[in-house]
Amino acid sequence: MNKPEKNDRIPLAPPRQRSPVRIFIAMGVLSFAAVWGLYYAHRATPLTTRAAVPHLTPEGRRGQRLFNEKCASCHGPNGTGSRAGPPLIHPMYRLGHPGGDGIRRAIVQGVAPHHWNFGAMPAQPDLGAQNIGAIIAFIQEMQRANHLY
Ligand code: HEC
Repeated sequence: MNKPEKNDRIPLAPPRQRSPVRIFIAMGVLSFAAVWGLYYAHRATPLTTRAAVPHLTPEGRRGQRLFNEKCASCHGPNGTGSRAGPPLIHPMYRLGHPGGDGIRRAIVQGVAPHHWNFGAMPAQPDLGAQNIGAIIAFIQEMQRANHLY
């Protein structure tokens, strides 16, 4: 039996070459994954603050109860933040910003995401004006006691 001639061989695919374009694409994909990972880790990190609860006025105490019932699922206990929403006892909100009107507007109209990466705040329509007033009193007493107001 003859040894097969070199030319009888089924031609193989040409040797693979590391094309610079592929390496470039791979690096692009890896750096995208790294940046996205960092962004995701940052986004998923709960942002919480410590806050002293002062001796509250009766109105503030009523507001505290309402706050911890209606708002703490996102804003954390006493407004100290959670995985789902920002702390309100935070320098972002110092010096009367958002102030009483801003708090009322946030509750009545909801908030489009603008300061943080938590997404939008839905309006909280089932709170009457008196309850909203108590919640504002609570937040402002907290902000004042924590030197943010
Ligand atoms: C479902 C989650 C959620 C609930 C419940 C919620 N909030 Fe918010 N709230 C947010 C998020 C998220 C933001 C931040 C939006 C941004 O600026 O990116 C926010 C922002 C705010 C702001 C700042 C508004 C501004 O102008 O920057 C105030 C004040 C506020 N919330 C008050 C409240 C009060 C009071 C309640 C309860 C009656 C409440 N929130 C309930 C998620 C929530």
